[in-house]
Amino acid sequence: MAVYYGVNDKIFTLQTRHSTYQMKVDDFGFLLHLYYGSRTEGNMDYLLTYYDRGFSGNPHDAGEDRTYSMDALPQEYPAAGTGDYRNSALVIQGADGSECCDLRYTSHEICSGKYALPGLPAVFAEKEEAQTLEILLEDRISKIQVKLLYGVLEEEDIITRSVRIINRGGEEVTVEKAASACLDFVSGEYDLISFYGRHAMERNFQRAAVVHGSQSVGSRRGTSSHQYNPAVIVSDKNTTEDHGSCFGMVFVYSGNFLCEAEKDQYGQTRILMGMQSDQFHFSLLPEEELIVPETILCYSDQGFGELSVRYHRCIRDHICRGKYSHAPRPVLVNSWEAAYFHFNGETICQLAKDAAELGIDMVVMDDGWFGKREDDNTGLGDWQVNEKKLGCTLSQLVQKVNDMGVKFGIWIEPEMISEDSDLYRAHPDWAFQIPGRNPVRGRNQLTLDFSRAEVRDYIFDEICKVLDQGNIEYVKWDMNRSIADVYSISGRQGRVAHEYVLGVYDFLEKLTAKYPDILLEGCSGGGGRFDAGMMYYTPQIWCSDNTDALDRLRIQYGTSFFYPMTTVSAHVSAVPNHQTGRSISLRTRGIVASTGAFGYELSLQKLTEEEKEEVRKQIGEYRKYEELIRKGDYYRLSSPFQDEYTAWMYVSENREKALLHVVMTENHGNMTVNYVKLKGLLPEGVYRESENGRCYAGSALMNAGIPMPVEMGECCAYRYMFEKDA
Ligand code: GLA
Repeated sequence: MAVYYGVNDKIFTLQTRHSTYQMKVDDFGFLLHLYYGSRTEGNMDYLLTYYDRGFSGNPHDAGEDRTYSMDALPQEYPAAGTGDYRNSALVIQGADGSECCDLRYTSHEICSGKYALPGLPAVFAEKEEAQTLEILLEDRISKIQVKLLYGVLEEEDIITRSVRIINRGGEEVTVEKAASACLDFVSGEYDLISFYGRHAMERNFQRAAVVHGSQSVGSRRGTSSHQYNPAVIVSDKNTTEDHGSCFGMVFVYSGNFLCEAEKDQYGQTRILMGMQSDQFHFSLLPEEELIVPETILCYSDQGFGELSVRYHRCIRDHICRGKYSHAPRPVLVNSWEAAYFHFNGETICQLAKDAAELGIDMVVMDDGWFGKREDDNTGLGDWQVNEKKLGCTLSQLVQKVNDMGVKFGIWIEPEMISEDSDLYRAHPDWAFQIPGRNPVRGRNQLTLDFSRAEVRDYIFDEICKVLDQGNIEYVKWDMNRSIADVYSISGRQGRVAHEYVLGVYDFLEKLTAKYPDILLEGCSGGGGRFDAGMMYYTPQIWCSDNTDALDRLRIQYGTSFFYPMTTVSAHVSAVPNHQTGRSISLRTRGIVASTGAFGYELSLQKLTEEEKEEVRKQIGEYRKYEELIRKGDYYRLSSPFQDEYTAWMYVSENREKALLHVVMTENHGNMTVNYVKLKGLLPEGVYRESENGRCYAGSALMNAGIPMPVEMGECCAYRYMFEKDA
């Protein structure tokens, strides 16, 4: 049992292996938050304090008691209009223009299994792996009902939160803001760790103190975005990779979001994660409902490393779905950086021929195979194969590739439309644009209004016609601009941005159901939609358009805080690198790319014989270690933002195998020696390093580390395999 309700004290307690979460229905029916952190026992409502505070009002129910204030008490789901002046989790505007939602406890249910969210991605679990708590709150005047949903995965140390907001009143209301999780801390000094970036430089680590006032990260771009990832960590001041308390909040959503951190006047901290409130006015007619996407909470008292291990397991086992979620991924070569738009059928066949010789499993034909698409200005929306360019039908091309023993994959960008396309000429109203205004262009393209079923259905049918032409075993789903002009000619404005994302999910759900054997890879100009929502449909995502090995170390480091390596698609590309101009050795590029879902993105033909031999070796090594990379626990051993080297490792579940990777990112004259300390081993175990055959005690490897060679060269990379001696 992970969920308990005490009838006498009206306290809900959620227990996981290492954490406790507690809340209480008080005498007025308000749901107050009591605690989240290391596992505790017993009733913790003694943590609530009551003082007469100036300028912090009191609910009418409190009568003359001025010590009861919503402005000071920790709350589970704070709604605007109740005398709490901090950031609200919920803001609802009534038909009369008033903004008040006074939520009181009505009832609750506890059941086995994990709740699902219709139309939205969410953590899933077997009946015996999870419990669900549903608490029904109601505003007795407006008849707004709020169902707070909690999913507890006890063994995984995971608690999920989602919210269903239902208008049971007789008039239309508008949800102006809705979070799915709120964490109120009555004491403590905290840091907020967030992951900022830009196109081709995503998910940089940023740690800043939560100070008085309100700080936020979020997206208004229609996607989760390159700029801020929808996942944060709230930690104690002194928390490190290996020590200290930290809380994670991962939003399972691929659209606009908002995360706010606030230290209030009394030194209390509130963190909210949920929908972006800008450009969001979600009207609800009587009996209509808004389901707020889920936030995955996790707590670790052993630093960020343990938090990441827990999130990796949760996302890999309880978010990623389908045949490939736990299967080895094909090693692929993608045509994009190999040829960009300048290819024909022969180019693809040549790539396949070279792939076959090198042991690569699959060729992916990226952008440029359809409509009139010789560059990125035209053709999106016209999903008809350009047979003239290919010199054959798609079916013939796929057959030729398959005949060489190579699998075939293809690129699509279903959500987009070029103004220069037959589709736009036929249906200009299918693109997002505000009547009477010129739309904002991004990469010279517009966004299709996926909130409309007829638009989605048309594109779905066109894409199916392509996929049905041959043995296509992989699809890369791209999305290459930030959305603007969110206006739907047949929609209810203010709801459209969210309904767009629901439309994308609906499309993906249908696609994965119809083609369960196809491996889907997500992409949005690389990592512009690298989020747990997409991972529900696409078990791997192109991590960044930046393939430079040195930059990738930073990007993959930031990504690793929440997302398992199985989701991180990474390729070896040519040098000088197309994004940075840097030339890093093939060996280092191979080691950095083999961090996750591995592949190549260069003209194989241009490789020298020596390089081809290195590629064969890389693929051989990847296959040897693939299972450990996919299933093992992942540990960061240094920070690319601080250290002279970047190191990371994978450890098998039984702790008997460990794979260590190190890249020296700085080299200086008369270099000092760096010692890399391993993690996650059995201290009493004896581990043999496969290359030199030497044995080391696990405790020695973890406490003293091993010295890295001092070698000439830029970004030298090392790989060590340790196996426990029997
Ligand atoms: C995006 C992707 C690239 C490539 C191009 C094609 O930028 O991230 O990998 O597919 O689009 O236009």
